[in-house]
Amino acid sequence: MRGMLSKSIVSGAVGDFATDVRRGLTKVGQKELPSKYLYDEIGSKLFEVISELPEYGLTRADERLLRAHSAEVVGRIPGEVILCELGSGSGRKTRWILEAFSRRRHTYYYPIEISPAALNICRRELADIESVEIVGLEREYLDGLLEVAARRQAGQRILVLFLGSTIGNFSPSADVQFLKEIRTILQEGDSLLLGTDLEKPVPQLIGAYDDPIGVSAAFNLNLLARINRELKGEFVLSRFEHLARFNTATRSIEMHLVSKQEQVVRIPGAGLTVALELGETIWTESSRKYAVSEVLQMASAASFRCEVQWLDQEWPFAESLLKAE
Ligand code: AVJ
Repeated sequence: MRGMLSKSIVSGAVGDFATDVRRGLTKVGQKELPSKYLYDEIGSKLFEVISELPEYGLTRADERLLRAHSAEVVGRIPGEVILCELGSGSGRKTRWILEAFSRRRHTYYYPIEISPAALNICRRELADIESVEIVGLEREYLDGLLEVAARRQAGQRILVLFLGSTIGNFSPSADVQFLKEIRTILQEGDSLLLGTDLEKPVPQLIGAYDDPIGVSAAFNLNLLARINRELKGEFVLSRFEHLARFNTATRSIEMHLVSKQEQVVRIPGAGLTVALELGETIWTESSRKYAVSEVLQMASAASFRCEVQWLDQEWPFAESLLKAE
């Protein structure tokens, strides 16, 4: 089984875009679209560009920490390790960890991702690393993790990578819940390397999510364009505006698409017609900013012990190595 899957993508079983669009846009009150749909081929590339912007320090902070501390991560996890990443990202920051493990022994790496586009970018980026077997799983995170856990052989430890503060996209309490679900799939002694973006001044955050050359705006608007492409939607993009704002109650940056006029939009592929008022918004993403103490609380509430935590000074960000106990 392992040989057959080497350097492959196992696809299938992801949620239905049309169903989720219908559910989100027919909500009473705040309309919303799940942020996971931001990452189609174009969205994944736009996020790559965002991560290079001077205003968006998150990805660079994550990468600095991983580059500096990969060897220590490897040193703290003895024996044979299966690497499993929730959200493959571009693979750039994962390179440091993979290289460090591959120096010790042949290693399996399972990026789990619902976006085949993102999986491909990641595989291309990391294909050259010797003695790492990449097996992309086109799955929702927990489904993929269950599959990896089922393939585990006696004596192997799992290290889950959940980087880039993707956990911040969950609503408060859904984030802890998600860690608990990860924990139930893992065994005692397995590990989780968790990246979390930390609180910082609001103007700095707004700049990171509403940059002056408009890449973040394009990233957000692409979700409507994607609905047009895949569901024959009739959104006129110029009738919407990107908005990034800080929600002080949840301590999250929220992205919205603001309707610039009263309008009606047909989306035949979702069997749906949506009416929007002037100024009404579609909420597309939340990105939570944590205090260090919250990260530790979250970990222990989910039955993980924080072994070691590294912080970036330039762009407050935490990398926490958590042990399942
Ligand atoms: C990839 C989820 C970490 O929340 O900062 C970037 C996505 N959204 N700009 C984030 C994102 C707008 C990003 N994550």
